[in-house]
Parts: sequence; structure tokens; C-alpha cells
Amino acid sequence: MGGPAGRPSGDGAPPLDKTPGRIAGMFDAIAHRYDRLNHVLSAGLDRRWRRRAIAAIAPPAGARVLDVCTGTADLAIAACRRDAPPRTVLGVDFAGAMLEIGRRKVQARGLDRRVRLVRGDACRLPCPPASMDAVTIGFGIRNVVDPAQAVREIARVLKPGGRLAILEFGEPRLPLIRAVYLWYFRRVLPRIGRWLSRHAEAYAYLPASVHAFLGPDALAAVLRGGGFGEVRVERLALGIVYLYLARKPTERERAVY
Ligand SMILES: C[S@@+](CC[C@H](N)C(=O)[O-])C[C@H]1O[C@@H](n2cnc3c(N)ncnc32)[C@H](O)[C@@H]1O
Repeated sequence: MGGPAGRPSGDGAPPLDKTPGRIAGMFDAIAHRYDRLNHVLSAGLDRRWRRRAIAAIAPPAGARVLDVCTGTADLAIAACRRDAPPRTVLGVDFAGAMLEIGRRKVQARGLDRRVRLVRGDACRLPCPPASMDAVTIGFGIRNVVDPAQAVREIARVLKPGGRLAILEFGEPRLPLIRAVYLWYFRRVLPRIGRWLSRHAEAYAYLPASVHAFLGPDALAAVLRGGGFGEVRVERLALGIVYLYLARKPTERERAVY
């Protein structure tokens, strides 16, 4: 698999343009249909993947959670659906229309005192150092122009011992499943996406960006390179999605390593 933004995918395809203006504009354009499309195209599995990510990091009661690339805030809202919910969830995204939909959902669920959504860039997070107990990113890191910089930023804002969960699409490895899935992902999904979102580009970008993005081993290496320990990768839904889990070492652990 190829590298991040601006680099060719290694299979002759032109490099994907992931400049912030283009990515934010694309998500803003599909914001009003984004949630419905997510649920339709994943056959409802997206909710289960988000629940799994939150359960895996199990933010302690009263925690401060940051959801990077929060979009319409589904992961931020999922973080609040725990018996002992976090004290605050801050959702950061640079697409204003996605955040606006997210704000309406947060309000409708009576979570506006707990969840705050702000505009910002994953590569320059609007948070003080060591201020967060846990960080999540759902299907966002693939779109970030410099994923290694975003990982360093997350390490900066996490408290020592804090946990990170990243959900991101992958491509299944088992040959038959891979063939069927890639047919759906490259041929069927862009058509349904274009029809329902009325946006020609966004759902062609999805399979192209997944194909060009770092594979699970490479993204795990980026996490380790960014200062994370206890990096684990879980394959969900036969490799359609990966859940990356990592922990920022404490000062003491860092001294021992
Ligand atoms: C596929 S959506 C995911 C939204 C949500 N996390 C979810 O689980 O449905 C990706 C989101 O990442 C945001 N995004 C991409 N790159 C970003 C960056 N560098 N900084 C902030 N937001 C970014 C986009 O605006 C978009 O809302």
C-alpha cells in the first residue's frame, strides 16, 4: 500500500489531493447525507465498530475524551453512551457543515453540556499538552494530509498513560472475500454514494483513499514512531475495518524503556 497524501499509491494511480480545503469542502458538500450513507453502505455495521472502539479504550468515569475528525459526532456521542460517561468530550473537525449536523444531534440527545464540537485541524489540535485521558479517531486519519504529524499531536495532548483508538478502513486479504469486497467497494458503493449524496467525487475518493493509505503494519509503525506503546491492531469485519489501539507511556515507563 502506498503512502499518505500527495504521494502516488504505487499502482500508477495519480496522487490523491488531500489539501485541507479540498477535504473539508468535500465533507461539507455531503454532510447532510453523510450519516444515512454511512449506515446504508456499511449495512449498519458502522455503529457496532464505533461501540467496539469506545469499549476497547474504556474511558474512565469523569475522563476528558477528544474525538479527532469528529465529523457528525457519532463517535463523540457513542463515548457518552457508557454507564459511567466521560466528563467531557471535545470533537474537532475542520468541516463546518459536518460539525453543524453533529451539534444538532448532540443537542437532540441532551448532551450539549458534555459534548463540545469545535473547528480545528488534526495536525494542530486546539488542546493544551497532556490534557486528555483518551483520544478517538473514526475513519478520519486516512484523510489527514500528514498522518504522522496528527499522531504526534495526539501524543502531545494525551496524558501519560492515556489511550488512543483509531478506526480506519482496510482491504480484506483473503482472496475470494477481497475480490467480492473490492468489486462492491470500487464499483457498487461509488454509484450508490453518488446517487444518494448527489456528489460525484466523494464516494469515488473513498475506495481510492483506502487503497492508497497505509496498511495496518505501516500505520502501527507510525503510532510507535509517534511515541505510543502497547500498539495493537484488531481486524474487524474480515479486514474491511481495522481498530488500532495504543497507549501513551507514562514518564516512568519511558525511563525504563
Ligand atoms: C469519514 S469522516 C468521519 C467522521 C466521523 N469520525 C465518523 O466516524 O463518522 C472524516 C472526517 O475527518 C475530517 N477531517 C479530515 N482531515 C482532517 C483534519 N486534518 N483535521 C480535522 N478534520 C479532518 C473531515 O472533515 C470529515 O468530517
